[in-house]
Amino acid sequence: MIKITPAKQLKGIIRVPGDKSLTHRALILGALAEGVVEITGFSQAKDCARTLYCLRQLGVQIKVDTHGKVVVLGKGLGGLVEPQQILFAGNSGTTLRLLAGVLSGQSFTSFLNGDASLRQRPMGRIVFPLRKMGACIQGRKGGTYPPLAITGKSLKPINHQLSVASAQAKSALLLAALYAPGWTEIKEPLPTRDHTEKMLKAWGAKIEWYAGKCGIEGLPHLKARPVFIPGDFSAAAFFIVAALIVPHSHLKIEGVGLNPTRRGLLEVLQAMGASIKVAELKETAGEMYGTIEVKSSSLRGISIGGEIIPRLIDEVPILAVAALFAEGITEIRGAAELKVKESNRLRALAKCLSRLGGQLEELPDGLRIHGGYPLQSALCSGYGDHRLVMSLAIAGLRIKGGIKVTHPELTEISFPGFWDLLAELRCE
Ligand code: S3P
Repeated sequence: MIKITPAKQLKGIIRVPGDKSLTHRALILGALAEGVVEITGFSQAKDCARTLYCLRQLGVQIKVDTHGKVVVLGKGLGGLVEPQQILFAGNSGTTLRLLAGVLSGQSFTSFLNGDASLRQRPMGRIVFPLRKMGACIQGRKGGTYPPLAITGKSLKPINHQLSVASAQAKSALLLAALYAPGWTEIKEPLPTRDHTEKMLKAWGAKIEWYAGKCGIEGLPHLKARPVFIPGDFSAAAFFIVAALIVPHSHLKIEGVGLNPTRRGLLEVLQAMGASIKVAELKETAGEMYGTIEVKSSSLRGISIGGEIIPRLIDEVPILAVAALFAEGITEIRGAAELKVKESNRLRALAKCLSRLGGQLEELPDGLRIHGGYPLQSALCSGYGDHRLVMSLAIAGLRIKGGIKVTHPELTEISFPGFWDLLAELRCE
């Protein structure tokens, strides 16, 4: 358990760990590429380590040096070997879903499993289209929940409309499509993060995409290239909101990924009245990054829904915290996907923020948050969800008497060093 006391002010210039989504993809594409892939800015998050261990079990040599530089010795599309053990993805949906796509096209059988949370997360969104491509996949409840058993087959291209806006599902199909000779086309209900598309293109795949539609040619030669991974916007989000709600704060976060499909939270916070500036914009392999400067601000409630939701899907917990400190009502709709994340985030947020005295209602597809009510000290659980633990910690910075949060170690799943960074910024 950890105690979070109120902060008088937050000040500093910081960096956050490398982007988690990009780290998973750099490792997986690195394994499938021809040649040696050097990755800098690699995230040491536990989720990314799961992908790394699974790839090692598939025969890929990956070296990690003490400065966090990672070297992957690519095996080419046909170089993976049958794992002797069950591949364990832990809490990481990205590991399990993306690897399921790759494993569908292999010439061996593999088994994928996860922790108690991941075993409750829906897999039909990948299993049904992968079966349409010819993959042989079994799993609990007709293949809709892990563990999954995948016997690789010769795959054929498909034309598929995804039923949910999910970058993990889209990426699983794109990775399987690498093994399917011909043109695969995937449509998504709303555009989601496009890191897989950008990285595949940078590595030589023939791939095209525009809002909500993506096509890829199978059997490319993926050429190894060095990868630089910018800071994780989803990690920066906690400190952005912290600086907004703690009085007299001024924070600069350098080298943060600013891919438009990820930075929806910035747009929403700015519309709520936040003082946020973006500077020193740069680009690497199609990925934008730069410095985010934030000053404490008075926020007002807002209504959001539709296309912005996938662009801030992981930031809803911390947005809900910002909304508690905003004047008026914030309504988040079109976010039913949050029920099937690491926890049921709509239910968990409604429960744990109400414990703090927050006035909020769980809606079938979102939350209604009545901002500006006084909050109170409490002992909270983050429902086993790393993003809830960090969101509660940020709320605690503005609660008289502070709060206590159980399982602080969960932050390591996506944000190693979260607590140290938070301590470093406090001016007492
Ligand atoms: C991710 C996609 C998102 C996000 C997750 C990481 C990715 O999930 O919530 O944390 O790296 O592709 P969905 O695509 O399933 O919404």
